[in-house]
Formats: sequence, C-alpha cells, structure tokens
Amino acid sequence: MGKCDLSYCVRRMTEDDISAVSELDRRIFPDMKMPTNFENELKNCMAHYIVACECDSAKSINSNDSNVIGYAGLWIMVSEAHIVNIAVAHNYRRRGLGELLLLALIELALDMKCNMMTLEVRASNVTAQRLYQKYGFTSRGVRKGYYNDNREDGIIMTVDNINSKTFKGEYKKLKGDYQKKRGAAEIILTAPIS
Ligand SMILES: CC(C)(COP(=O)(O)OP(=O)(O)OC[C@H]1O[C@@H](n2cnc3c(N)ncnc32)[C@H](O)[C@@H]1OP(=O)(O)O)[C@@H](O)C(=O)NCCC(=O)NCCS
Repeated sequence: MGKCDLSYCVRRMTEDDISAVSELDRRIFPDMKMPTNFENELKNCMAHYIVACECDSAKSINSNDSNVIGYAGLWIMVSEAHIVNIAVAHNYRRRGLGELLLLALIELALDMKCNMMTLEVRASNVTAQRLYQKYGFTSRGVRKGYYNDNREDGIIMTVDNINSKTFKGEYKKLKGDYQKKRGAAEIILTAPIS
C-alpha cells in the first residue's frame, strides 16, 4: 500500500457502527445461532470493540461515512484480555487487516494494563491460528465441543505476559515490519466521541 488518498484505519466502534458491523457479522458467520448483540456489547464496561475502515484521508477518521470492513472485540477482566473475535470482510482478506486489528487489540490491552491475552479458536480455523501464532500466542489446551453450532473443539491460545521485554520487543518488531510492508494504516484508539 503506497501513499494514496484511501487507506485503512482502526478506531473504536460507536453506536453509529452497529448496523454495519451486525451486517458484516451475519455475512462472516452465517451459521451463528446467536448473533452478537453489539448494542449490549457497547454498553458492557468490560468490552472494547474496534472497527477497521477504509478511510479517505480528506475526511475525519471519526467520520461515520467511512466503510466498515472488519471488527474485533476484547473483554477485559482484571489483568486478562480475552479476544472475543476478529473478523474481516471476505473481499478484503489477505491485505493485512486482520493483523492491523490484532495490533490494535494488543495496544489496547497494553493501555489497559493487562498482562495476559487469551482466546478460543475453532480447531479447524488454521488461518486465524496462524495469525495468532505470528504474535506469540501458543496453544494451551482444548475446550471439547466448545462451539455449539457443530460441537467443534475450541483451541485455547494465550500470551502470558504482554508486558515482558521479550513480548514488547517482538511486538515492536512486528509492528515495524507491518508498517514497512503495508504503509499508511492508522490506529486511533482514543475514547469514542459521544
Ligand atoms: C482470520 C482473519 C481475521 C484474518 O484476516 P486477514 O485480513 O485475511 O489476515 P491478514 O491479511 O492480516 O494476515 C495476517 C496473518 O494471518 C495469517 N493468515 C491470514 N490468512 C491466511 C491464510 N489464508 N492462510 C494462512 N495464514 C493466513 C498469516 O499468518 C498472515 O501473516 P502473513 O501475511 O505474514 O502471512 C480472516 O480470515 C477472517 O475474518 N476470518 C473469518 C473470521 C474468523 O475466523 N475470525 C477468527 C475468530 S477466532
């Protein structure tokens, strides 16, 4: 991605994004029996949701006419950050957006003084597992039949200490590599404008 007027950015999800994100969620997870209630999630003080957008640099990053093409969520419980989901629209995959969302979640977890990051991922979802592995998440066990649509197992993946020198060093390096490869994507994680 070179210098151009249109680029990607990540910002906090707001109420104005709910319908676009719900639509995206239905398209990405058509078999989900209980779709995520983003209205409730935004009211949940433990939950932190972000969206990836195509941003026209001529417009404000908070502009609600930006096109939402991915989202991710984190639940923060004391010092543990639990990744609820990361999802990118089908026709925008393999362009670095999933990685951009994960970089932003890690940044959020560090800002919120968390130590540990964890998640569950379907045993068959090798793509997502690769993304998490790239950022140091390792497999810690299996929740048998965790997913109630098809009783698929959930693999637990965790990073123990995101404040360690080793993790921070690796994170900095990966972020630098990302910027070299992908260019002008922005992460703006200030509180949403009410
Ligand atoms: C998982 C998902 C978010 C990845 O998003 P994406 O924007 O396509 O991923 P990126 O382009 O940022 O790729 C980042 C890394 O993910 C891994 N990855 C992504 N797509 C991959 C694929 N098709 N095969 C193998 N690895 C892949 C690679 O490690 C990649 O790093 P690299 O570019 O250095 O190889 C996306 O596939 C998605 O939305 N899937 C459906 C929802 C889902 O399953 N979410 C996870 C829930 S736990």
